[in-house]
Amino acid sequence: MCGIVGVLGNHEAAPILVEALKRLEYRGYDSAGIATIDAKGQLGRRRAVGKLVNLSDTLVHNPLAGKSGIGHTRWATHGAPTTDNAHPHLAGNVAVVHNGIIENFRELREKLAAEGLEFSTETDTETVALLAQSFVAQGKTPKEAVESTLAQLDGAFALCFLFDGENDLMIAARKGSPLAIGHGEGEMFVGSDAIALAPMTDKITYLEEGDWAVITRDGAEIFDAEGRRANRPMKQVKLDAARIEKGGYKHYMAKEIAQQPTVVGNVLNAYLSGDQINMDLGGINFANVDRLSIVACGTAYYAGLVAKYWFEQHARLPVDIDVASEFRYREAPFAPKTLGVFVSQSGETADTLAALRYSAGKVDKVVSLVNVPESSIARESDVAVEIHAGVEVSVASTKAFTCQLTSFAVMALKAAHDRGHLDDAGLAQRLSELRQLPGLMSHALTIDAATKAIASKLAEARDVLFLGRGQMFPLALEGALKLKEISYIHAEGYASGELKHGPIALVDKATPTVVMAPHDGLFDKTVSNMQEVMARGGRVVLVSDARAAEEAGSGVWQTLAMPEAPELIQPILYAVPAQLLAYHTAIAKGTDVDQPRNLAKSVTVE
Ligand code: AGP
Repeated sequence: MCGIVGVLGNHEAAPILVEALKRLEYRGYDSAGIATIDAKGQLGRRRAVGKLVNLSDTLVHNPLAGKSGIGHTRWATHGAPTTDNAHPHLAGNVAVVHNGIIENFRELREKLAAEGLEFSTETDTETVALLAQSFVAQGKTPKEAVESTLAQLDGAFALCFLFDGENDLMIAARKGSPLAIGHGEGEMFVGSDAIALAPMTDKITYLEEGDWAVITRDGAEIFDAEGRRANRPMKQVKLDAARIEKGGYKHYMAKEIAQQPTVVGNVLNAYLSGDQINMDLGGINFANVDRLSIVACGTAYYAGLVAKYWFEQHARLPVDIDVASEFRYREAPFAPKTLGVFVSQSGETADTLAALRYSAGKVDKVVSLVNVPESSIARESDVAVEIHAGVEVSVASTKAFTCQLTSFAVMALKAAHDRGHLDDAGLAQRLSELRQLPGLMSHALTIDAATKAIASKLAEARDVLFLGRGQMFPLALEGALKLKEISYIHAEGYASGELKHGPIALVDKATPTVVMAPHDGLFDKTVSNMQEVMARGGRVVLVSDARAAEEAGSGVWQTLAMPEAPELIQPILYAVPAQLLAYHTAIAKGTDVDQPRNLAKSVTVE
């Protein structure tokens, strides 16, 4: 997944493009580049491998003039992250930036090579530039050339074209990857999302599937996939134009972990009113729902896994749950009265969006839990529940996870109450338990120093196991994901009862095992599994409350003492030690905490 941006401005384009790309770096940071058209209509390009700062350095030494331009920040799909493979790609008079995957690019390469065209990169995007150029060479206008090019592309793309000699023209297209048009005062913009355009405008038109647009400083002429003029609404979106800063923290991840008591409190303030729930679900009454289908990826999927326990235990509502990349090809049949629920922090994850599109029309309603209300997933849902986490910059999701969980907890309690499994008094009790979260999370954050001490030892491990039972099993999975994605240490999460069915073979004194075991109804069972690990020389890090640690902590290698908490909120609370262990281990390993290798914040390709 990549980020693209385009500017037809009244000021030098290069600094505007770079600022917009900074806001798109969450989509990938393997390389970056811009192309501009100067006052003489001349097309120029600068590219750099690695983070955006390298492109900025290049531009200092080798500036690029022009008030029209396009830019790109890359997460490599086809071809290594090299300068040659960095976008924009040029072919003759045409420059193009691309987010997505052209699935028939090999076939197109062969066709173009047969026509004598030569390639200088390994990318699918170069094919697009060469195709457009071949049509221009045939005498087609830029609009005709792009229309003919789009007709030959299969796969997912958000594209923005510039043409040599045309300093008041951009042509943009969207199929499968999001694209927004920004309306300025005598200026026009294109961006992968509205956040990138926030410093320039809050007047946004979202292109729809198959749309393409011919853009000049006077405005955008939008066409649908069949080439018919299309009217798309221009919205005034509420966006925070200020760039998100670290605010004195060493990393965005540290800031976002520390923000959790506040943002979880924001969720509760948004959806609770006294002893009532006021989460607007578009009139959905769970008494009329027979089944949930929850679909998500990564950390969002683990939030859904916890929610499965809550809906089934408290609301007696059966839940199917899938990772989106599997779900979209499983051709799942749906029982009547099924609610489709899609969880996505970015609201742009391609697999989750595709799963939503598969489900729409087959389920009674599509509900999404998103952190970006203007996102594609939100806009394609019947009901979009905002998780109020605030902008999450670090690639490793932390506050979004606990806000997803808190939003799900409210939803599950509403379901329990709707379905008669929780009376008013019971609901009031549960809501009072939820209201303890901000304070308990602040308390949990005080284990920071203890997790730092343990992390320095975890950093020496080659493999780490995480165990949890019941609603804590997804926390074991999340703890393993956090650790592996930012420290690059192999880690696996297991249901603690499952360990003896094979994975215990991994246990030796070199393999730390982190046991997420609050004092809940399954605590004794988990302690037994912990003993099985220690009996084989395994080093156990017990994450539990002081009482439990006192009862069962003898012989464990390390203990992280958490505050006692009502069972309902334990999965939300125990995200904190999982996050802090990963964070401090990554620092001990010297990895790039906020932008780990090979990753991006939003995965907008399959
Ligand atoms: C979480 O730390 C990861 N960065 C990743 O698993 C992420 O949760 C996943 O890609 C889903 O992203 P989304 O919530 O934006 O859809």
